[in-house]
Amino acid sequence: MRRPMVAGNWKMHGTRASVAELINGLRHLALPSDVDIAVFPPCLYINQVIDGLEGKSISVGAQNSAVEAMQGALTGEIAPSQLVDAGCSLVLVGHSERRQIIGECDGTLNRKFAAAQACGLIPVLCIGETLEQREAGKTLEVVGRQLGSIIEELGVGAFARAVIAYEPVWAIGTGLTASPQQAQDVHAAIRAQLAAENSEIAQGVRLLYGGSVKAANAVELFGMPDIDGGLIGGASLNADEFGAICRAAGN
Ligand code: 13P
Repeated sequence: MRRPMVAGNWKMHGTRASVAELINGLRHLALPSDVDIAVFPPCLYINQVIDGLEGKSISVGAQNSAVEAMQGALTGEIAPSQLVDAGCSLVLVGHSERRQIIGECDGTLNRKFAAAQACGLIPVLCIGETLEQREAGKTLEVVGRQLGSIIEELGVGAFARAVIAYEPVWAIGTGLTASPQQAQDVHAAIRAQLAAENSEIAQGVRLLYGGSVKAANAVELFGMPDIDGGLIGGASLNADEFGAICRAAGN
């Protein structure tokens, strides 16, 4: 059985004061013991969050990391080794906002994924299609290509120590959620693509859904056979709402 996971991506939100408030809210949550829970604060606040959540079983990750594993001359970047040193255990790779707004391409993301794993971080690979691609019937082709890029470069074995998040771009921050069946169909295709290479890895890897997940729709989404939890944006900035989503992934 795969252990469910719920992760909050705080994106570029927060101030020291609002982060302190959110930490306080998280500390007071009753969290399920059968769900892995993580938050991804902006890098600037990672130390504050790790200190503030001490003793609470919430992992902390970064939203991005460098293409090189170790510290060195790479202005403006943060090395996976530095994230490990800070106490992070996870890192997002290839969020659609970075693919689309920053222009990160598959080649860069392959390097980030490999560098993160080289330091023992668990990469959470984010993949998903735009509305235009979905309407053109290209969803599985696009998602298959994004996933295939890592498989080709690093081998399917890389997914023995990774998580995948399917996040349709049209559902991110829009209030439009993929229906549980739409999400399940893509998750099943992702698992089948991995299974064609290695069925054990395909069965073990956790596939999270992301895109306007709230407490109100989480139970239905997480009830689908290939949806192993969620990557939550806006709703993760509210501790009580996030806690309810975490509980929806339990038992
Ligand atoms: P929302 O939950 O705000 O739609 O964001 C999803 C997301 O992008 C998480 O990485």
